[in-house]
Amino acid sequence: MQYFHANNKLTAEQKLKLLVEFGTRTSGEIRLDKLLDIIAQQITAILDVGRCTIYLKDVEKNELWSKIAQGRGLEHTEIRVPLDGNNAVSIVARTGEVINLPNAYEDPRFSMDVDMVTDFRTHTMLAVPLKNNSGKVLGVFQVANKADGTPFEKNDEGILTLLATLAGSSIEIAKLYQDVHVAQLETIYRLAITAEYRDQQDTRAHLKNISIISYLLARALGMGTKDSELIKNASPLHDIGKVALADHILLKPGKLTPEEFEIMKSHTVYGGRILEGAHSKVLKIAHKMSLYHHEKWNGKGYPNGLKGEEIPLEARIITVADVFDALCQFRVYKQAWKTEDAYEYILSESGISFDPRIVAAFKKIYPSIRKLYAHISVNKKTPVSGAAETQAAFESTDSSAHDATFRSMIENDKE
Ligand code: C2E
Ligand code: SIN
Ligand code: SIN
Ligand code: FE
Repeated sequence: MQYFHANNKLTAEQKLKLLVEFGTRTSGEIRLDKLLDIIAQQITAILDVGRCTIYLKDVEKNELWSKIAQGRGLEHTEIRVPLDGNNAVSIVARTGEVINLPNAYEDPRFSMDVDMVTDFRTHTMLAVPLKNNSGKVLGVFQVANKADGTPFEKNDEGILTLLATLAGSSIEIAKLYQDVHVAQLETIYRLAITAEYRDQQDTRAHLKNISIISYLLARALGMGTKDSELIKNASPLHDIGKVALADHILLKPGKLTPEEFEIMKSHTVYGGRILEGAHSKVLKIAHKMSLYHHEKWNGKGYPNGLKGEEIPLEARIITVADVFDALCQFRVYKQAWKTEDAYEYILSESGISFDPRIVAAFKKIYPSIRKLYAHISVNKKTPVSGAAETQAAFESTDSSAHDATFRSMIENDKE
């Protein structure tokens, strides 16, 4: 990439070119995480600095947050700073003023917290407010350490303020999209709980496990992060049709009679009806999952007896995730199986109940799965996500918002 650096004196024409370039690269990206990454990269290059950190306001929590962009494997970890604190970025966010520290470590307004976790030493620091079109402060752009070692000057303040102004509306739009996305996922999740909470002791753990397994399976099958994420987000709805089942069947503490099992099977058809004609991508996938998640590779499943690749791929994925987790969990009609036994069962059903390709993918991801379940069995009451590996895979997706929704719900569920 060719950049002329803004801390050299720029002509009006050069400035204009730089701003147009910045506008082009940042426009059209509505995923907030991606947008913030792009902006931070652009600013790092344009101002030729060691680091650029973008903080956004979280009004609900009265905090500023940012994602760590580099350092010690902490990529995508969230940093949070209280809005009413006395450090530089909090002051900028509160007052809307610019703070320029020529010697950060000697200034009481500088907090070393972020440096300490990222193994970075801030020498010079400049922080400017990020505002929307009506002048409301949305967050802070912070840069550190000019490459030439000199302190930030008025000219840098001007450029960074200008970049913040240019980025303001894209960031605001991306935030709105994210809010809508989070609201949609939260609705899906709460709807899924409605369907599952009657017959399951640990609904949240079940839904979370299934979505993690589905995601990892999709990735192991070579699907991209976007499609894998849709699968992850749709998966909690696969049993939505259970809302239509009467308690005496769903909650029967023993084996179902053949007649009762016939009724039980209808949860797939009900699920299909509930989600029939959905418009959003995620609900379209949920439709296929709910209708076909009990079909079997050999054609002996229900409701339609579809065989092999007649069964939509999404359904073939969820069925492996669903059965594995159902086996590992306690149900009113069965004890929890040992993880290893559930694993052996999945392998033994390859080409019978399950698509062999998906069983092969399951084999591949099993080390992560085992860690996830090992953690759960130790902490039965607090099913927070465990294995770093699984967690990393989960977090490598774009919808950290969804993960956050899961996480906060799981947190809220702790006794
Ligand atoms: P679920 O409990 O979520 O189980 C989902 C699927 O996991 C089952 O689909 C089955 O394929 C697998 N699975 C669960 N437990 C076992 C098990 O102990 N052994 C084996 N080999 N597989 C198991 P399936 O069989 O089509 O059942 C669908 C749903 O029907 C179950 O969802 C559960 O809600 C209900 N159900 C099935 N059998 C019984 C039963 O004997 N009693 C009661 N009360 N409900 C049952
Ligand atoms: C600050 O004091 O500027 C906030 C946190 C940091 O970047 O160290
Ligand atoms: C797909 O690959 O997304 C669908 C085709 C299939 O059902 O195998
Ligand atoms: Fe089901």
